[in-house]
Amino acid sequence: MIEFRDVTKKYPDGTVAVDELNLTVEAGTITVFVGPSGCGKTTSLRMVNRMIDPSAGEVLIDGEDVRKSDPALLRRGIGYVIQQAGLFPHRTVLDNVATVPLLSGWTKAKARTRAAELLETVGLPAEMGKRFPAQLSGGQQQRVGVARALAADPPILLMDEPFSAVDPVVREGLQDELLRLQGELDKTIVFVTHDIDEAVRLGEKVAVFRQGGVLAQYDAPAEILARPADDFVSDFVGRDRGYRGLSFVDNEGLPIGQVDTVLVGGAHSPSQQWTLVLVDGDKPRGWLAPGSTVDGEWTTADALAGGSLYTRGTPLRGALDAALSSPAGLGVVVDDAGAYAGVVTAEEVLKVIESRRETAE
Ligand SMILES: Nc1ncnc2c1ncn2[C@@H]1O[C@H](COP(=O)(O)OP(=O)(O)O)[C@@H](O)[C@H]1O
Ligand SMILES: [Mg+2]
Repeated sequence: MIEFRDVTKKYPDGTVAVDELNLTVEAGTITVFVGPSGCGKTTSLRMVNRMIDPSAGEVLIDGEDVRKSDPALLRRGIGYVIQQAGLFPHRTVLDNVATVPLLSGWTKAKARTRAAELLETVGLPAEMGKRFPAQLSGGQQQRVGVARALAADPPILLMDEPFSAVDPVVREGLQDELLRLQGELDKTIVFVTHDIDEAVRLGEKVAVFRQGGVLAQYDAPAEILARPADDFVSDFVGRDRGYRGLSFVDNEGLPIGQVDTVLVGGAHSPSQQWTLVLVDGDKPRGWLAPGSTVDGEWTTADALAGGSLYTRGTPLRGALDAALSSPAGLGVVVDDAGAYAGVVTAEEVLKVIESRRETAE
């Protein structure tokens, strides 16, 4: 368990990066810190492993003030993963992963065996251990970064925008991998991102920060979507997703909206909105992120995997899953024949589910 108690960080130039933060990260969960750039996410994260010390207040791990720990020892018990992986360029992948066990006094042979196991754990073939970081793709480097952070089997993992530099398709693969790993490893993970969709997808709890280092809301993701604490959170989670209001209410009472669509093989028409890719005339295949462009015609390869589909008339839980698993934050609704019918937001699905609960009570 990690506790922030009245934590404030004021930099010497007067910038208040974190303002009286009070928050508890439960052991064995993924907690996501999300918010726009400059709102104090990184500063908060780094106060856990003492890369930064608070100006006031305290950070406790399992009840113990981190300032009582030796920083070097503390960090061995805390894995740290950053954007672009931060690998040592002149060491092989295997040696990168073996770094922390070696620092902890393991023999070279034992550290390397452990490193090889970890490459497998994060889904990389053993041969890649011999390569240098520059010889891997961005996504592979991030996997190595995760393997390195896990090497000493730390109970805590701090991840600062670890997947922000890779393209959306690879990012989704890495997110899936992290969720799978967490299912096995049960770490206490604090994950920083500026992307609300990533936060909602990964977080069991999500902390939304605003400018000035203020915690705006700390809740389960579905709660944040359904009941934003204020206008800031509401704007932040509801950022324009290209969702064009209501087109009809289905027989479950669920409001269905519409988005732009493109056909695979269709002409190139870039959109500033999330756009749904259709195949065979009307079957949803995936999403194009705002601003996506191609030379010529769209192909299925251009589409981001789309999350689950919701078939009209089936239990509403499926509509919520569809919305939460969609990269666009919009669940795709299909008819019995699998044809695109519209989209739903998690917020609206939850409203319908709740109003039924109230009626039933
Ligand atoms: N060393 C520093 N000195 C002065 N201001 C800083 C320093 N590091 C960060 N800041 C400022 O503190 C605020 C929070 O930064 P940061 O925690 O990096 O935000 P985030 O990770 O949410 O983008 C920003 O206004 C940033 O400019
Ligand atoms: Mg940051």
